[in-house]
Amino acid sequence: MENVNYENHFTFAGCDTVALAEEFGTPLYVVSEEMIRERCGEIRENFLNKYKNVKAAYASKAFLTMAMCKIIESEGLGLDVVSGGELYTAIKAGFPTENIMFHGNNKSWEELELAVINDVGRIIVDNIYELDLLEEITKQQNKKMKILFRVTPGIKGETHEYIVTGQKDSKFGIPLEPEKINDVVARVMDSENIELMGFHFHLGSQLFENHIYKAGIEVIAKLMKDLKEGLGFITKELNAGGGFGIRYTSEDHPQPLHYFTDAIMEAVEIQCCKHNLDLPTIIIEPGRWIVGEAGVTLYTIGSIKEIPNIRTYASIDGGLPDNPRPALYKAKYDALVANKMNEELSTTVTIAGKCCESGDILIWDLDTPPLEAGDILAVLSTGAYNFSMASNYNRLPRPAVVLINKEHPELIVERESYDHLLDREIIPSYLKK
Ligand code: LLP
Repeated sequence: MENVNYENHFTFAGCDTVALAEEFGTPLYVVSEEMIRERCGEIRENFLNKYKNVKAAYASKAFLTMAMCKIIESEGLGLDVVSGGELYTAIKAGFPTENIMFHGNNKSWEELELAVINDVGRIIVDNIYELDLLEEITKQQNKKMKILFRVTPGIKGETHEYIVTGQKDSKFGIPLEPEKINDVVARVMDSENIELMGFHFHLGSQLFENHIYKAGIEVIAKLMKDLKEGLGFITKELNAGGGFGIRYTSEDHPQPLHYFTDAIMEAVEIQCCKHNLDLPTIIIEPGRWIVGEAGVTLYTIGSIKEIPNIRTYASIDGGLPDNPRPALYKAKYDALVANKMNEELSTTVTIAGKCCESGDILIWDLDTPPLEAGDILAVLSTGAYNFSMASNYNRLPRPAVVLINKEHPELIVERESYDHLLDREIIPSYLKK
């Protein structure tokens, strides 16, 4: 079997995961640099080098650390950030700010100011309130910023309702009501400090079908045509967002990248030809697709509770705080018992997290070898939206992150300690007595 060493341990990115658990402790996020770089290479080969006038940015909300910024920069991709915190991380990592796109549906004055001062490449303006703030900040700072408008094309992706974004009833983007969008485009065309480069849409996440991207492009191309005819506005850039799905379990059948990108490029050509428009620069911004499968999380099994004729719960030393996705989206994961790779999967258990919360179940009905306390569980495809969505619920310190490069593990985020949990706390003096 692949990924099993002579000790019958699960190996990930060439490292014995049981040894990693021993060295760094559990729960532990393990991320493969090689797998991330492979995905970036695929983006170059099947998109950036295949088509003219295209760009790709990594949606950093999926997983962001300063080390990750360095990897993305060296792969020649841009970075999509969605908050002052993500932007600050990128700035501190020395990421070239001209390759940063700043998203978000409620950016604050301070966040926008940070972006303007640091000459962020594109601000993806979500609403009129934000446009007003940006006008003021750019005037104050005496800068000219390039922006895209995020629009909602009115298309619903087939994914969990919490991660669809392109439908009409959405908190994201400017609705495509003709008067509204015309007014706002006309307004920025007159602005001295803001240059509108084009439009952005993002339809949802963990998507497996390319037809909705085609539909999105059809809607935006129509908008481009109307704005060209009505206002003489030429769209130079079109950002089609991210959302390409990955494999979590055998139920998922992910498509190769080019299944999406070829469809996007074909649709752009067809639509622009139909409406007699110049081809804009096309941008994609995948997050999950780049890091999701490049991560595993290691846990130690503790209590094993058999409820006769019903089920057996095997509890791990983490759960909902380091991976809220099963509780939030009913997300499914697959896992292996890392120290028992040669044993038959003769039993079925439910993997329970350690939070005081009945919903803290990581995996229902996982086939495993007979389990005992101390076994190491490796949950697969946890590279995206696990570390980045982790919390301290029940005051569990957040796990460390180890990056594996050429079979060498390197700590890139330290494990939180109990003292870290108290770091920002202050007991008012009157309570100290
Ligand atoms: N661009 C924009 C504007 C986005 O809002 C997102 C994700 C992406 C790109 C990247 O999407 P991806 O390629 O990673 O699917 N926490 C959820 C996912 C939320 C995604 C939000 N936006 C989850 O754990 O499934």
